[in-house]
Amino acid sequence: MTTALCPGSFDPPTLGHVDVLHRALHIFDKVVVGVVANPSKAPLFSLEERAALFADLFDGQIEVVGFDGLLVDLAADLGATALVKGLREGADWEYEIGMAHMNRHLTGIETVFLPTAAEYRFVSSSLVKEVWRLGGDVAALVPEPVMTALAAKQEP
Ligand code: PNS
Repeated sequence: MTTALCPGSFDPPTLGHVDVLHRALHIFDKVVVGVVANPSKAPLFSLEERAALFADLFDGQIEVVGFDGLLVDLAADLGATALVKGLREGADWEYEIGMAHMNRHLTGIETVFLPTAAEYRFVSSSLVKEVWRLGGDVAALVPEPVMTALAAKQEP
């Protein structure tokens, strides 16, 4: 039984995240999304809201857990085979490779990088939020339930 742990802030989940998770489901027996409870910046969506969005999007196909400690401890608790991350551009590599080495240093866990689908290479949760806050159209970049959740925030 192989288990992928896909960690992130997911504030909010984007179509790029959804694509990576579906592809991880083809490679691993089980996929768990680890939603970091308190990302460095104050989240737009609470942990409960982000977890509920994933539950809605994947309808039981994946497990969702919130966490606020070390990622490698969560991975050990879950018996995860590997961490899975999507990689977009070079800047992602610079950020992710250091964490991959650190996580492997800590417990030996491997990180598997999946290239983000070409059509979502420019999509990040932070850009989606910025464009949405300024009144731009992000409907093609996030799943429908996220659009509904954004509309409910009524920020723009
Ligand atoms: O979506 P993000 O914000 O880029 O995800 C970053 C995340 C949550 C994967 C990273 O910050 C993380 O692993 N946080 C958990 C705390 C931890 O283990 N830090 C050491 C990482 S080497």
